[in-house]
Amino acid sequence: MHEPVMVAEVLEHLAPARGGIFVDCTVGAGGHARAILEAGATRLIGLDRDSDALKHAASALEPFAPRVELVHADYRRLGEVLDARGVASVDGLLADLGVSSMQLDAPGRGFSFRRDEPLDMRMDRTSGPSAAEAIREADERTLADVIYEFGEERYARRIARAIADARGGIQTTGELAELVRRAVPRRGPARIDPATRTFQAIRIWVNRELEGLDAFLAEAARRLAPGGRMVVITFHSLEDRIVKHTLRALSAAADPGVTIRTKRPVVPREAEIAQNPRARSAKLRAAERHA
Ligand SMILES: C[S@@+](CC[C@H](N)C(=O)[O-])C[C@H]1O[C@@H](n2cnc3c(N)ncnc32)[C@H](O)[C@@H]1O
Repeated sequence: MHEPVMVAEVLEHLAPARGGIFVDCTVGAGGHARAILEAGATRLIGLDRDSDALKHAASALEPFAPRVELVHADYRRLGEVLDARGVASVDGLLADLGVSSMQLDAPGRGFSFRRDEPLDMRMDRTSGPSAAEAIREADERTLADVIYEFGEERYARRIARAIADARGGIQTTGELAELVRRAVPRRGPARIDPATRTFQAIRIWVNRELEGLDAFLAEAARRLAPGGRMVVITFHSLEDRIVKHTLRALSAAADPGVTIRTKRPVVPREAEIAQNPRARSAKLRAAERHA
């Protein structure tokens, strides 16, 4: 099961004990949502683009069902989702970005090189091409740029060349992992699998994880009621950079008028990292709408 990160820190910045309407834009397994409801939120709207995640969230949030609505939607459609429910403004908003451990670990999703299965990697399996299809359609240059930029992989060009040379294309996670391991020079005992960075890059690309993040944050800020709070957790430096710059730009603008609550990003305590290694790269930033 997915372990929510920095729950105490999320509650401190979101302050759901105030009551009111809260939106969890990435409800996942519902860990944060549950804590927000337990702390006193009056109503919670939970979004996720992954319908499997929504099933887990529904069961985790069952005790709070009358106060919860779960919606299969991309958070980039936040405005539309709130308008459709007649909700003009909300008291708090959480976005815990990226993939969940459930997505990474569940068989058949094609996110992990730990098992050999069709290379899918889509968070929302109802839309867009799978990773195998996207790779098949892309030219070598695009693949090299994706692997270099989103994976910070120094051997991106070699890997892209090997992918382009693969006869019959790449169908499975195992094929891609093996190809990357062969393309990357071996230097001493590897601490992490050489395929890790390429898998991360292809996942970010296929799910367009960085696209529209700035516009989403601006819409989130606009939707906050006076005194409302937003909290964003990232797991990747490129993502955190977008969040940092967008919150800064929003706080410098007169409208909607927000104050950044976290001068530096909040990171998990050592004890949490020891217990949940996935928390290691988490960074939390928060802002508040002027009263
Ligand atoms: C890190 S997990 C969230 C875990 C959740 N906070 C919990 O406590 O279980 C991220 C979730 O965001 C979802 N997600 C990622 N990008 C999304 C997007 N653009 N729109 C909606 N959901 C998205 C993923 O499907 C995944 O379930």
